[in-house]
Amino acid sequence: MAGDDTGGRQMHLAVFASAGPVSGSHGGWRHPQAQGDLLSAAYYQRLGTLLEEGCYDFVFLADILAVPDRLRGSLDSQLRYGALGALRLDPLPVLSLIAGATRHVGLACTISTTYFEPFAVARALATLDHLSGGRAAINIVTSFQEAEARNFGREEHLSREARYDRADEFLEASCRLWDSWQDDALVRDREAPLFADPTRVRRADYEGRWFKVRGPLNVSRSPQGRPVFLQAGASDRGRDFAARWAEVVFVTHSSPEAAAAFRTDLRARAERFGRRPDDIKVLPGVVPIVGETREAAEEQRALLEELAHPEAGLSTLSYHLDTDLSQLPQDEVLPDNLEVAGVQGHFREVAEMTRRTGMPLSKLGHQYGAGRTARGFVGTGQDIADRMQEWYEAGACDGFMIQIPYFPGGLEDFTRLVVPELQRRGLFRKAYTGSTLREHLGLPRPPA
Ligand SMILES: Cc1cc2nc3c(=O)[nH]c(=O)nc-3n(C[C@H](O)[C@H](O)[C@H](O)COP(=O)(O)O)c2cc1C
Repeated sequence: MAGDDTGGRQMHLAVFASAGPVSGSHGGWRHPQAQGDLLSAAYYQRLGTLLEEGCYDFVFLADILAVPDRLRGSLDSQLRYGALGALRLDPLPVLSLIAGATRHVGLACTISTTYFEPFAVARALATLDHLSGGRAAINIVTSFQEAEARNFGREEHLSREARYDRADEFLEASCRLWDSWQDDALVRDREAPLFADPTRVRRADYEGRWFKVRGPLNVSRSPQGRPVFLQAGASDRGRDFAARWAEVVFVTHSSPEAAAAFRTDLRARAERFGRRPDDIKVLPGVVPIVGETREAAEEQRALLEELAHPEAGLSTLSYHLDTDLSQLPQDEVLPDNLEVAGVQGHFREVAEMTRRTGMPLSKLGHQYGAGRTARGFVGTGQDIADRMQEWYEAGACDGFMIQIPYFPGGLEDFTRLVVPELQRRGLFRKAYTGSTLREHLGLPRPPA
C-alpha cells in the first residue's frame, strides 16, 4: 500500500484540530499546557511541525458558520465558557499557512454544501491542492443548525433529505469543474505560443435543481485531480451519501463492535455504488488522554473534567443535537426516543453512554464537554496503543481521528508516547513514502 514502509496494512492517523478554542475537550483552552495564541500564525506553524514529526496522514479543521445559540436561545454559554463554536477562524487560510510550513501532511477542512457554491469551493480547493503539492481534502457537510441558516438569508435550515439532494448536486457540479481541465492541458510553451491547449479544456455545463454552473474552472487540474473527500453523516441517507462519495468517513462509536458493524455496512453500500470497499476508510474519533504513568493520565483526565464548564458541554451538545437541552429535566437521563434534528452520530454516541452509565443529563453534558464520551483511551502510551490495536484488528476501523484535548501539550504527548509504540508494533508508518495525501491514504487518483 502506498504510504506504508513495511509493505503490510497499516493504520491511518488524522488529527482533529480546531482553529478555535476547542478540539477534543472544552477544558483544553484553560489547560496549563495549552500554549500559544490561537490567533497567531506561529500557533498553526507549530501545529504543522508537530504533525510532520508524527508522520500523521492529515490534519482536519472542523468548521461552523455561526456562533451557536441553541441553549436557551442565547450566545452566553458558548462565548463565556469558550465552547466549541465560540470562535472559529476561516480554515482555508489557516490550511494555506500550514501548507507553507510543511511538506507532507494532508490538509483537510470542512465545506458546507448548503451555504457555499461549487465554483468558489472547487477553485479554492484546486488552489490549495496546487500550492501544497497535492495535499488538499474536504470534509463535506450539509450543516444542520438554524443559526447557520440565519447567517445566509434563510429563516430555517433545509430538511435532511433536501440537504443531501443538494450535496449530491454540489459534488456532481464540483467534480465536473475539477475535471474540466485534462491533466496535460496546461502547456506553457513560450515559443508556440501555447499557454493552455483549448482542445483539452471543456465546460462543466452542469444544470440541476440547486446549481447551474457553466465552467470551466479557471484553475488547471491539480496534483490529486480532486481533493480527498471526507464525510461524517450517520443517518441512512448520510451513509448512502458517504458510500457514493466519501473516501474517509469519521465516526463516533463508543465500542469496537458498533464501529465494526458500521464499517461492514458502509463497505457493502460502497460496493453497491460500484466502488472498491478499500477505497473508503473509516476513522473513529477518539480523545486520548495519555501520561507517562496511568496515574498521570488519570490526573490529566480529572483536570480536564474540572476545567470543562458543565454549561459549555451542555451548550455544545444542544448545538450538535439541534435541541435545547435546558428544556429537559437535568437530573433525569436523556430520553432514548428523543426526536433529534441535528447530528445522528452524536445522539447515538450520548445515548450509548446514557444506557451504559445511567448518568443524568447534567452530568452527561459535562462529560460530553470534557471529551469523555469515547471511552477507554486514557492511560500510558502502551495502554492507548493496545486499545487502538484492538479496534483496528477487530475490523472496527482503518485508523483513527485523534481529537487532541489541548494544544500543543496533548499533541506532543501523543506523538512522543503513542506514535512510537504503534510504529514499534508495525502498525503505523515511520516515514512518509508518498508525497500526496492520496498516496498516504492508498487512494486512487480520479481520472479527468
Ligand atoms: C466527527 C464529526 C465531525 C463533524 N464535523 C463537522 C463540521 O466540521 N461541521 C459541520 O457543520 N458538521 C460536522 N459534522 C456533522 C456531519 O457532517 C453531518 O452533518 C451530521 O452528522 C448530520 O448528518 P446525518 O444526519 O447524516 O448524521 C461532524 C460530525 C462528526 C461525527
